[in-house]
Amino acid sequence: MESTTNKFSHNLLTWYDKNQRDLPWRKNNPPYEIVVSEIMLQQTNVPKVIEKFKEFLTLFPTIQNLAAAEKSQVIQSWSGLGYNRRALMLHKFGQEIVNYHQGIIPQTTKELIALPGIGPYTAGAIASFAFNKPEPAVDVNLRRTYMRYFHGQDQALPMNKLEEAELYTLIKSSIPKDKSSLLHNALMDFGSLICKAKNPSCESCFQSKECKFAPLYKQHGQKALFVKEKKQEPGISENGKHIPNRIFRGRIVEFIRNNPGTIEIQILGEKIKKDFTNEQEWLLTLITKLEKDGFITKEINEKHIELQLSN
Ligand code: ADE
Repeated sequence: MESTTNKFSHNLLTWYDKNQRDLPWRKNNPPYEIVVSEIMLQQTNVPKVIEKFKEFLTLFPTIQNLAAAEKSQVIQSWSGLGYNRRALMLHKFGQEIVNYHQGIIPQTTKELIALPGIGPYTAGAIASFAFNKPEPAVDVNLRRTYMRYFHGQDQALPMNKLEEAELYTLIKSSIPKDKSSLLHNALMDFGSLICKAKNPSCESCFQSKECKFAPLYKQHGQKALFVKEKKQEPGISENGKHIPNRIFRGRIVEFIRNNPGTIEIQILGEKIKKDFTNEQEWLLTLITKLEKDGFITKEINEKHIELQLSN
């Protein structure tokens, strides 16, 4: 008899064969390009990544080009993607590979995880997508899909160590021999087209007969969904709405990308915050943090500030 995991993967791959999305990092790309796509996809949606992925590879076609670039060029290229920290980490990743790994990206998760910017998910994703290794890349999509289908739970967050380990083993056991890359791609599409977080298409899903969650969703609808409580990020009110400092940091970097040089501090404040008044102290705290994190350099001269992307 076919095992449940085999059936799950077999059905998924059959569906994927006819329904896969055509994405530019799914064309037998070299490992470097897979790394670029994965870092971008961590926090940016697919349509935006499609656009920026091509642009980034035109600027830095190889890992050697990336490693040799100035930090400011890499920060500049990240415009529109948000979470600029990733640009710094990707640059460092490139330099580490070129300087200490002969320009060759390692294939094991153990080696990958030791590199800048690479956590357990990204290590698994690189091993799977770039090298077809049977390494689970456990992101929110996979977590949700497997917990629903095999356990009838929408999401069990946060999980303890044992539950994490069991989920990892379950996913690993579902990877067909030599098809890790294919299965992971199928899982990404399944999670974004059918087994969606908010409005899952259980009614029309090809897995619904075997899935433990489908009957619960059919019976209870949205109530069957696990709603994650969102913690408010540190930030400040703008026109009466709470905006995380992360967004203002992004706006400051974006401003400097387009207008490096000297500006009156008050004017800068008005450029990055719609209702900026006497919040200079807050603004300077953000700028100082950006400098400390290696994104920019600053020089304050009474009411003025000179700002540049860091080299
Ligand atoms: N999200 C993370 N990795 C992805 C991939 N390879 N394809 C689509 N979405 C993704």
